[in-house]
Amino acid sequence: MLRGRDIISVNELSRQDFEQIFDAADEILEAPGKWSSALRSRIMATAFFEPSTRTRLSFHTAMLRLGGEVIDLGEVEKSSMAKGENLSDTIRMLDSYSDVIVMRHRLEGAAKLAAEIAEKPVINAGDGSRNHPTQAMIDLYAIRRFHGRIDGLTIGVLGDLKYGRATNSFIAALAKFRVERIYLISPPQLRVRDDTRELLSEAGIEFKEVERLEDVIGELDVLYASRIQKERFPDPSEYELVRGSYVITAETLKGAKSSLTILHPLPRVDEISFEVDSTPHAKYFEQAALGVPVRMALLKLILVG
Ligand code: NCD
Repeated sequence: MLRGRDIISVNELSRQDFEQIFDAADEILEAPGKWSSALRSRIMATAFFEPSTRTRLSFHTAMLRLGGEVIDLGEVEKSSMAKGENLSDTIRMLDSYSDVIVMRHRLEGAAKLAAEIAEKPVINAGDGSRNHPTQAMIDLYAIRRFHGRIDGLTIGVLGDLKYGRATNSFIAALAKFRVERIYLISPPQLRVRDDTRELLSEAGIEFKEVERLEDVIGELDVLYASRIQKERFPDPSEYELVRGSYVITAETLKGAKSSLTILHPLPRVDEISFEVDSTPHAKYFEQAALGVPVRMALLKLILVG
């Protein structure tokens, strides 16, 4: 049951919750007009304290496609936060004006704090370097659509496994399914944190940490690439050591299965070269488009069940 719930982290979601969202997204894609007034007269408030293109616009689109309305805090410089208003007071206001709050913030724990203050459901649109639950929903849904299943697949997660909230949430969500094996592909400095290793071990998922994509590419059904999170490095010189660690080219993919799909939460910087876009492996733009039906499904299930 998702009705009335806050969505802060994938850890609070069960496999059944994910599947309920996926089934609803399937229904939306099959009959796009069916829910066009499901959220009529409902208002979603968005507050993005960090940059966003896909998450912000696909949440907006989702609400509009369900017949609802959107209010947006806008740039912090133009809100009362520029006058010194604190986050709690701002959230309290959004709570009184809307039916659901979607928030992105630089600091881990900000969404949880907002959920404690707000009576209305709060959806975490990414906070800090760990949690981005709705991105994980999209990522797993994309795999289900492109491969027909999630269980039994071998999945490579590449890039910034330390600071990436998209990669961290993706891995935590995969742990709820019975994937065959996960390859964690990163430079030594950007390996997953201990809690991720523990989570995978506790879930009984076989995983291996490797540095070179070339060593495992032939085994993968899915390659989830990610951007190195420049803005989250405490020390810029640490970033300089790992920037450009991976560049996936047509050459890299020579040894890949023909059915390999490449996913990426986007934005990409330089980790996937443009020539890959025209290969049948490239699924990241289709994946991003699935953000609308998945977020429609989530909003509808939270607000009306
Ligand atoms: C991600 C994010 O903001 O965490 N973007 C997204 O929501 N699709 C990934 C990133 O910024 O690298």
